[in-house]
This record gives sequence, structure tokens and C-alpha cells, in this order.
Amino acid sequence: MSELLSHIATTEEIRISQDPFERIIGQEHAVMLVRSAVLQRRHVLLCGEPGIGKSMLAKAASTLLSPAREEIRVRANPVAPNRPEVVIRTLVEDVDRDDQYPEDVFYIRPEELPYDVAVEMGYRCPHCGSLSLPEQGVCIDCGSAKRCDWKEENSYHGLFRALNLIHERAETTVTRVDKQADGTDTLVIYQRDKFDTIKVISRTTTQSEAVTEAYDEFTIVPRSASRFIRVSGASAVELLGDVRHDPYGSADGLGVPPHQRVVPGAIHEAHEGILYIDEIATLGPLQKHLLTAMQDKRYPITGHNPHSSGASVRVDDVPCDFILIASTNLEDLPGILPPLRSRIRGYGYEILLSSWTKKTHDAVDQLVRFVAQTVQEDRKIPHFTAEAVGEIVSISERMALKLDGQPDSLTLRLRELGGVIRIAGDLAVQDGAELVCPEHVKRAEELAFRSEIEKLSKGQGHLADAHDYGSYFL
Ligand SMILES: Nc1ncnc2c1ncn2[C@@H]1O[C@H](COP(=O)(O)OP(=O)(O)O)[C@@H](O)[C@H]1O
Ligand SMILES: [Mg+2]
Repeated sequence: MSELLSHIATTEEIRISQDPFERIIGQEHAVMLVRSAVLQRRHVLLCGEPGIGKSMLAKAASTLLSPAREEIRVRANPVAPNRPEVVIRTLVEDVDRDDQYPEDVFYIRPEELPYDVAVEMGYRCPHCGSLSLPEQGVCIDCGSAKRCDWKEENSYHGLFRALNLIHERAETTVTRVDKQADGTDTLVIYQRDKFDTIKVISRTTTQSEAVTEAYDEFTIVPRSASRFIRVSGASAVELLGDVRHDPYGSADGLGVPPHQRVVPGAIHEAHEGILYIDEIATLGPLQKHLLTAMQDKRYPITGHNPHSSGASVRVDDVPCDFILIASTNLEDLPGILPPLRSRIRGYGYEILLSSWTKKTHDAVDQLVRFVAQTVQEDRKIPHFTAEAVGEIVSISERMALKLDGQPDSLTLRLRELGGVIRIAGDLAVQDGAELVCPEHVKRAEELAFRSEIEKLSKGQGHLADAHDYGSYFL
């Protein structure tokens, strides 16, 4: 019945592909459509029973992505601090920079800082020039507030500063651009490193780059991050991002500035990549926001807790140009927001994955491969004899009949079948057997059967509910 099976003694002889697409058993149609969807950057809805390879397919799809080109950063907005701005850095710029202009990094002490930088970082008193730590709001030598002189201020604030009740936030990073005669610029970044050490990063740049760098930028989606992002469960924060609360508030020198509290959502992390949403109907009302993100390819990040300081911060136009791969059971299809579903249909594919396949020679061979693959992935169980694999094929056939009413077919509910394979392997290990034999598989089938009964008796306990579990074993 199987070419492969008649040529092997054990599953050890079967070569398994490392290509994640080739490891997907059955589902050829879905594999083909998902491949082309990714190449054309189209959305995909995978419908089908649990445990038939939907997640596997989405994960495999991510191997087709080319590396991310863009990095998403947020920078401080000096004019409106609660409206940080988004900055996109593309690969090209950085490659140029790395190739041409190596960085020079060294450490200095506060007294070695240029005078104005030392004032800005809070090390030097602008009045008398004496040195102290930035935490020290008032100069010990002359008694004046250290950080109020170089800004227009009214006497009311001055009074509070003098009392050390308000401090202007000392800058932890200060950037200077020095123009060079040859048209390049030298960018020097002074960063507070430890208490009294300052890290100096100096590099030659092109002019436009220096301007970008002179702002305080915070990376929220690094280019190196994985662009396969998986979401399950309905969390607005997880899906859309957030701005963390700052317990110290923005007025206090201890506070973290708003742009550094921005947390990207899964939609942003999946920019240029794949957003995989398991059981999309469970997103509920969040589907509306997902749809907006798909239409606009950009979506603002705001704080989601109305009582926190993050709620007043908002970053507009954060890019989120992702390929959506969503999964669902057939029963949950009505729970998908109709305009979202029609968007996926209009701009992509709705794919139905089957939970069974006709028992052809090829299908049996694939199932044999699945046994070998499961053994290889598990690493702890021994290989199967050809006869033991034959038993697995019989179980697969019975499952297709019981669960899908299909005679002469094989089940593709491979998560469940994989469970039986692993139990059989464990039994062989317990027996000290070097190979899994048909007896182990038969006992595994019985055991799996029993654990399903236990599951039922712990739950509602009605055997009549067995069908809801979608399990072959009852
Ligand atoms: N078509 C398949 N080919 C190979 N293995 C599969 C297949 N379907 C399920 N499996 C096995 O079952 C596990 C769970 O499958 P998964 O992709 O999470 O199913 P789904 O997302 O449809 O619920 C996989 O890790 C794999 O071991
Ligand atoms: Mg899954």
C-alpha cells in the first residue's frame, strides 16, 4: 500500500526535509496559496479544525520574508513633549554609515566636558561654574538653582527651584554637531554613563544624518527583531501598543521622557513581516482596529490605561505594513467582522484546510514521513518499525472515518495523531525497546482513549459531549 513502507525497516531510514514547507503533511493546496500570498504581500485567512497545521503554515510563511529594511524609532518632540514623532530609518543609510564612518567611543569625567555641555547635563552651575552631580539641584558653592539660568523663567518658578522643589530635568544625553571644512560633520554624543563618567561617541556623518541623530531617538522596532509576530487573545495593549505609565510624572527629573515609554503593538512589530492571529474571532471588537491598521498601514500608539500618565501621550502614523495571516475554526467564521473578512478576501485568500485526505499511495507515504518527522522532533523516543508505522496508518484511517465520516481516507488531524506517536514512543522507552513496535502503538491508542475519558469525566462528564471534543477516541 505504501512504496516507502515496503522499502524501509525503520523510520530511521527516512530523510526529512529541513524546508518548513516540506514538513507540512497534506494541505498542498494551502501551501501553494500561502507561498504566493507572501510573495505578493496578500492577507490570508486559514480556516479549519484544530491541529491540522495552520500555525505551522504561518510560521513556514515567515521564512519567505526578506529581511526588514526599516527600523521604527520614536523621537522626543521638544515643542510638544506628549506628541513624540515617529522616525523611520532604512537599511541603506545605516549600511553607508557603518562602512564609511567608524565610531570612536571613549569615556571622560565631568570636568573634561565642554563647558556648555556640562551645564546642560547638570554637572556645572551656570552661575559660578563649580561642579557637582546633576541630582544636586542647587549649587553648593553659590547657592543658586543650577538649571534655571539658561531659560526664560518667571520668578515663581525660580522660587520653587531655589527651594529645590522643582528641578529641570538634566539631560542624560547631549548631542553636538561640529562642521568640518570638508563638508562632513562630526557628530559627538555625550551620554551619562555612570555617576561621574560620561561616554563620548564621536563619528563623522553626512549632514542630514547628523540632523536626525541630534534628536533623542528611541528604537521601538529594531531591524534585527523577528518579523513573525504571533497574537492570541484579545489584548488592546498587545495588539496596538501602549505608552507606559511614568510614576514620577513628567515634571520631575526622575521621570522617563514620553518617547522612551512608547511600547509598540504586535501590528507595529509585524511591520514588513507577518502578523499571525490565532483564532481571530476571539479578538472581538478589536477587529475594527485591526481593519483600520490594514487599510491605513499606519496606526497611532497611545496609552491604554486612562488613569495613567501614558494616556495623554500619542505617537501618530507609526507604520504597520504587515501581511495578516489569521486562523479560525469553521464554527467561528461568523464571529469575524464582515468588513475585515471581505478585506482579506478582496486583498488575499481565504483558504479552507481539510482535516482528512483520500488514502492514496502518496498520502500514505506522507504519513509515514510524518511519523519519522515526529520522532526526529521529539528527540526522546526511538524510531518506529515499518509494522508500527503501519499501525499508525490504520489509526489515521479509523480517525478519518470516525471524525469526518470519510471511508478510505487518512486523517490530517496530526496534532492528535502526533500525540499517539509520542505515547507509543514513551511506552517503548519504558520497555527498554530499541524500536517502537506495533504492540506499543496499540497500547498507545488504548491509553490515549482512556485519557480522553478522564478528560471528559473531569469536565462536564457526559459522554454525549464527546463530539464537541472533536476526538476520535470516543
Ligand atoms: N499538516 C501538518 N503537517 C505536519 N505536522 C502537523 C500538521 N498539522 C499539525 N501538525 C503537528 O501538530 C502540531 C500542531 O499543529 P498546528 O500548526 O499548531 O495546528 P493548528 O494551528 O491548525 O491548530 C504541529 O506542531 C505539528 O507537529
Ligand atoms: Mg495553532
